[in-house]
Amino acid sequence: MKTRVTELLGIEYPIFQGAMAHISDADLVSAVSNAGGLGILDTGGDNAKQIQAKVEETLKKTNKPFAVNLYLMNPHIEEVVDYLVESNVRVVTTGAGTPKKWMPKLKKAGIIVIPVVPTVRIAQKMQEIHADAVIVEGMEAGGHIGKLTTMTLVPQVVDAVEIPVIAAGGIADGRGMAAAMMLGAEAIQMGTRFIAATETNVHAGFKEKVINAGDTETVITGNIVGHSVRLLRNQLTTDYILLEKNLVSDEANDLSPLDALTTGSLKRAVEDGDAIRGSMMAGQISGLIQDEKTCQEIISDVMEEFKAVIQKYKTV
Ligand SMILES: Cc1cc2nc3c(=O)[nH]c(=O)nc-3n(C[C@H](O)[C@H](O)[C@H](O)COP(=O)(O)O)c2cc1C
Repeated sequence: MKTRVTELLGIEYPIFQGAMAHISDADLVSAVSNAGGLGILDTGGDNAKQIQAKVEETLKKTNKPFAVNLYLMNPHIEEVVDYLVESNVRVVTTGAGTPKKWMPKLKKAGIIVIPVVPTVRIAQKMQEIHADAVIVEGMEAGGHIGKLTTMTLVPQVVDAVEIPVIAAGGIADGRGMAAAMMLGAEAIQMGTRFIAATETNVHAGFKEKVINAGDTETVITGNIVGHSVRLLRNQLTTDYILLEKNLVSDEANDLSPLDALTTGSLKRAVEDGDAIRGSMMAGQISGLIQDEKTCQEIISDVMEEFKAVIQKYKTV
């Protein structure tokens, strides 16, 4: 299937596996890319050497295009960008800020840069600084989120920019993909669906929580303090939301006890499957996900259903 995004990246299907902290490693990324989508490596706060090791491991497992997610608050960002421009990495997605400072270097090296954006204004700014496309993420998504939904944000960004739009947040099947494409997106990005992929190296307890979740089982922490994160409800989220309210109304306004709750909590979810005190970041679409599948199955099922849905309207 061809869109401006598949053409730009040289991928078979317009499907990205979103970067997921502590989750999207070489195994998952290469499985997605080998299945014709775009795998995206998580790099978090890694230094250049650590990222180089992840990239080299991925290159051993796939010869298809994949991307590296550049975390813009990474304390090692200067050396990471220097590494990226010298490396074989051809596609970079960015998150947690503006890549403006790094754009001249990245673009000069011929790297395709695709920032994740939560609003129309930021999408326009990314176009002004010569981003190649934007990933528009709605607040249905798992992980750190903005305030607008995929349904409302995607068409508004599509109207406001010329560059291609990739829709993220709340998509896990071919119907979701068709909806996003009807809104003007030229590719989709899924995160939560890939947590329950066979090749994903997370604890079985985390996969089970996503597979067994119902439609109302995610909550948002950090809404009051301004770092909104969507994740599956458990003791950690209940404690966090209560503490957040109490601390903000307290005169001292010392928010550090919140850090004590969350430090290491994503690792607890990913490595130990800790369903009580782990940050099981996942999106609202968890309720739709009923089984573990290989990346190949996820991508081919999404594409098949997408085509069937589109076919239904061919005669209208
Ligand atoms: C567990 C988890 C971790 C995530 N970590 C990151 C991250 O480190 N950087 C990033 O840009 N997006 C991150 N995301 C967002 C995904 O890349 C993707 O945009 C999002 O999951 C799409 O929405 P969905 O969850 O409804 O599929 C994360 C999402 C999840 C579920």
